[in-house]
Amino acid sequence: MCIRDSSTPDLISLGDLGPAELRRVIDVACEIKADQLGYSDFLKGKRLAMVFEKESLRTRFTFDIGMQDLGGSAVFLDLSQAARMGARESVRDMAKNLERWTHGIVARTYRHRTIVELAQSAEVPVINGLSDLLHPCQALADTMTLVERWGTVAGRKLVFVGDGNNTCHSLVTAATKLGMNVFVCAPEGYEPDAEIERAAIAAAAETGGSYTLTSDLMEAADQADAIYTDVWASMGQEEETEERAAIFSDYSITEAVMEATSPDGVFMHCLPAHRGHEVSRGVIDGPQSIVFDIAENRLHAQKAVLAMLLGGDKTEGGNA
Ligand code: CP
Ligand code: NVA
Repeated sequence: MCIRDSSTPDLISLGDLGPAELRRVIDVACEIKADQLGYSDFLKGKRLAMVFEKESLRTRFTFDIGMQDLGGSAVFLDLSQAARMGARESVRDMAKNLERWTHGIVARTYRHRTIVELAQSAEVPVINGLSDLLHPCQALADTMTLVERWGTVAGRKLVFVGDGNNTCHSLVTAATKLGMNVFVCAPEGYEPDAEIERAAIAAAAETGGSYTLTSDLMEAADQADAIYTDVWASMGQEEETEERAAIFSDYSITEAVMEATSPDGVFMHCLPAHRGHEVSRGVIDGPQSIVFDIAENRLHAQKAVLAMLLGGDKTEGGNA
C-alpha cells in the first residue's frame, strides 16, 4: 500500500494527499495504536535513515521507536552542528548513497527545496520530518488526536494563533481536507504562505469546511473547539526572538482566551513550548491542554506512515 497511488511514494506535503488518503493514514494510525503487537514484525529487516539539520526530541524519538516497534531499525545522522545538507557533498549524492543502505529516509531540513531534492533523487521513500515550510507528521498527529477525541472533526472550529509557519501550514492543509472550519489569527506580515492559503480554501470548498484569516484573537477564539499555537521564533529564526516577542505579545494564549472557547475546547501545541510567551503556564499545564496526547500520537501517526511507505503491499486494502 502507498499513501499515494504514485510511483514516488514520499511524504513531503499533506497537500499531495486527497481527503480520503489523509483520512486513510489517520485510520491506519488508529488501527496500529489499538493493535501494536499485530504490527511488531511489519517492517522486519527494514532500515530507516534519519538525517536532521535541526534539533529534535519528539520527531527523532518517535521515528526511531516507531521503526523498532515495527521490527525494523533506524540510524540517526545529526547534522545540527554541521554545515547544511549539500555542503560536504550534494543532496543528490547523499540520496544516492542512502538509498543503497536503507529502505527510507526521514529528513529535517532548513530549506524546503532540500527535502524536495532529496525526494526527487532517492529511489526510496522520503519523509518530511519538518522543513522551514511544512511539518506534515506533526499535523497527522494533531488531526489524529482530534479524530480520536471527537470522532467527527468536520464542522469543528480550529484556530491557529501566532506565526504562519511550518506547523501552521501543515495543520491548515490537513484540517481543511478534513472539513474543519479553520481560522488563522496572525499579526500583519506573519500570515501563512499565500499558496497554502489558496489550497486550503480550495480543499475547504471540496470538504464543506472553511478557511478564515483574521488578526482579532478574541473573535477567533469565540466558541472555538481547539486553539493551537507554536513558538514565535522557529528554529533558524533565533536572531529575531526579541523582535518577534514584541510583535506577537498580544497573541499569547492565556486563560482569558481559553474561556472564550466552546465548553469542551482544547489547547494544542506541537512542542517545544515557551511558557509565559506564546502560552501561559496555566493553559498548557491546565485541564484543556492535550499537548502530551498529541506528542504520544506522533509515534502512532508516524508508524502508519512508515508502514504504508516502507511496508510495500503488506497493509490491507491495496493503494490508499
Ligand atoms: N514537535 C516536534 O516536531 O518536536 P521536535 O522538534 O522535538 O521533533
Ligand atoms: N515552528 C517550529 C516547530 C518545532 C517543532 C520550528 O520550526 O522550530
